Amino acid sequence: MPAHKIAVLPGDGIGKEVVPAAQQVLDKAAEMWGFELTWTEFPWSCEYFREHNRMMPTDAIDQLAAFDEVFLGAVGDPAIPDHVSLWGLLIPIRRSFRQYVNLRPIKLLDGIQSVLRDVAEPIDFLVVRENNEGEYSEVGGRLYEGTPQELAVQESIFTRTGVERVMEYAFDLAAGRGGKVVSATKSNGIIHTMPFWDQIGREVAARYPDIELEEVHIDALAAHFTLRPTTFDVVVASNLFGDILTDLGAALVGSIGIAPSANLNPERAFPSMFEPIHGSAPDIAGKGVANPIGQIWSGAMMLEHIGYPEAGEDILAAVEDVLAGSQVRTPDLGGTAGTSEVTDAVVAALERTSNRRDRA
Ligand code: IPM
Ligand code: MG
Repeated sequence: MPAHKIAVLPGDGIGKEVVPAAQQVLDKAAEMWGFELTWTEFPWSCEYFREHNRMMPTDAIDQLAAFDEVFLGAVGDPAIPDHVSLWGLLIPIRRSFRQYVNLRPIKLLDGIQSVLRDVAEPIDFLVVRENNEGEYSEVGGRLYEGTPQELAVQESIFTRTGVERVMEYAFDLAAGRGGKVVSATKSNGIIHTMPFWDQIGREVAARYPDIELEEVHIDALAAHFTLRPTTFDVVVASNLFGDILTDLGAALVGSIGIAPSANLNPERAFPSMFEPIHGSAPDIAGKGVANPIGQIWSGAMMLEHIGYPEAGEDILAAVEDVLAGSQVRTPDLGGTAGTSEVTDAVVAALERTSNRRDRA
């Protein structure tokens, strides 16, 4: 039986609740499809930081490199500044493993009501967020701290290689879908990096004559997300623009507790990493009410990446089955169920799929 080595980083807060829940569902899917996931858990988190004064050991990246993929919960604790915790764990992993695509589906599932009224057609598109450079950069600094002259400089980094590869990824995706890429820009206000982003987007578009490219300024695009979310196919965006758009997108399709993401190294030279869009949610942590669906769906994306697209589809179908066919849902979706009830319901729905398949 093929086995896949997965490094598990539950992280902080609700990460520690939704990760084991998702593992239960993924193990069930693995059993159904005849493969094995071998999980190795690492305690790296803000709690680890309290003891060791670092988010993860100095050789953490080398340790993780031995795995096929990384399954991450969420990182963050109010007692530790976010830029310390995130730049100590999440961002170094994304960069060291060249996970330059952050793929985030924005899809309204069966059984979920969008916050938008009158959505007639399905909302179903993909955001391809650049994940290694752009506005998230260490280039810059502070001077004259504590004086009236104090200043902070933060540079954005856009490289030809970095923009080209994420554009190509988006165009390849669109080629297998609706044939349209919307590129988030702001070249009317940001005069160096964004015209460069547009220029490379057009160069790549010229190599894909069948794919339509539309450039939309980020401010207008945010409005379009709410006014006509059913018209998108693939949206490509820089690191910060993609970050903002995907929280907006996740809210449109019901709850940030549902939305998944895949930090991909498309060349597969390094592990990819799968994590929900939501954070560690300290306000609801420990209560057993966190929505496990974002983590479960991220796991479905992981199975797809390692070569089991049907298993991933089964998991998503099971989630939709539960959402559409029952009232078993967590409070963020207006229900009263806890994490474990939702998880058990998804596992039971998966089992039903498998029984139907056996009978067919
Ligand atoms: C995300 C998160 C992170 C990001 C934060 C926690 C650094 O918001 O994955 O969307 O901005 O990349
Ligand atoms: Mg975000």
